[in-house]
Amino acid sequence: MFIDDIEASWLESPFWRSRLVLTRDEQIEALVAKDIQWVTIDDNKGKGLPSSREPRANAAKSQNSEKRGHIAQPARAVKRRAPSHSQPYIPPPGEQRFTRLTPRERAAEVRKAKGAIKRSRTAVMNLFQDARLGNAVKSKKMATLIEQIANSVAIDPTIILNIARLKTKDEYTYLHSVAVSALMINLARKLRFPEAQIPDIGMAGLLHDVGKISIPDSILLKPGKLDEQEWTTVRLHPQKGHEILLASDGVCDMALEVCLRHHEKMDGTGYPGRLDGDDLSLITRMASICDVYDAITSQRPYNKPQSASQALKTMQSCSGHFDQLILRDFAESLGIVPIGTLVRMDRAELAVVIGESPSDYAAPIVRTFRALDSDLPIVPQDIDTGRKRSRKVISIEDPDDWDFADWSTVSADLLAEEDLT
Ligand SMILES: [Fe+2]
Ligand SMILES: [Fe+2]
Repeated sequence: MFIDDIEASWLESPFWRSRLVLTRDEQIEALVAKDIQWVTIDDNKGKGLPSSREPRANAAKSQNSEKRGHIAQPARAVKRRAPSHSQPYIPPPGEQRFTRLTPRERAAEVRKAKGAIKRSRTAVMNLFQDARLGNAVKSKKMATLIEQIANSVAIDPTIILNIARLKTKDEYTYLHSVAVSALMINLARKLRFPEAQIPDIGMAGLLHDVGKISIPDSILLKPGKLDEQEWTTVRLHPQKGHEILLASDGVCDMALEVCLRHHEKMDGTGYPGRLDGDDLSLITRMASICDVYDAITSQRPYNKPQSASQALKTMQSCSGHFDQLILRDFAESLGIVPIGTLVRMDRAELAVVIGESPSDYAAPIVRTFRALDSDLPIVPQDIDTGRKRSRKVISIEDPDDWDFADWSTVSADLLAEEDLT
């Protein structure tokens, strides 16, 4: 049985990934034993189900709080009722998102994504140039590019994001726009927005920082910290961008909203409006997460890039900034595991996630610290599960299920150790 998605937090799921093949009865029983309401099964993969075992009924469920958004709400997703060994189900058409690629197919997709990024970068540069010259933004020209970004993300979001991560100083703003567009599209699909809204969401990502044309390069590319006056100039870019987009034809409401609001924060300390969470739409909350994630995982004049799992940990600690529920969806949409997560390893050890493999950010680097058979501490060892394919994380563990006096202290101590490889 191929599980395409498990609707549960990592701590609730018995498995390491939310997409995997179940081959044994025990795995299915482990899934059933957990309090998980929904899974998506792709019957085109794994072992097909006989037609006599069709599901009994569909059920509908909204993916997010009804309160969350003012502009865009995801569709009510139709999924099948929770897994039961005796009641397997087949997902409705269109639920399968990512394709498993052979190395050759992946190489072809990488080439395509590189082409799409190159064209997008040039297009976004031209678009910003138009705005700089006081011309209206030609939003219709973006449609094909957004479609290419959306297609690439649908096949595998890591391809386009890995390429867009490598930004030089001069092209940062343009590639950042492409990356935020890709991240927003990927997150929107995770939240099950209707596919018809994807072009608007892609446009919102591409245009969110168009107001940066009002910031002189001496500030935008400054290697050191900005002074108060420079910050005042930077903080004007959402309004400047909003004015540019208002004067342009064909710019959707989402793009206008995201442009103006992507620096607002849930606790009301953001800019320009100091709006608090209740006044922030779902699309704004999504944009804020995608924007900051790309910024802190990219090379900047004043900061080293953070790894995906480190960035996620940083963002989780900014509780007043982000909608933490959407942040969790965001992490799941990319397969990122936060640093500090407790996991069980294949050789009966407990370990803590300390980072992700350089080659695959869905493959964590873990630090083992306790043997389960003897229940004794072991000499910690770092394992890169992306490089060492024979070693595997088999589950995410809830620290409350173990006898740690204080897991946060234990994990902090473990993380504080030097590199042990
Ligand atoms: Fe911005
Ligand atoms: Fe931005």
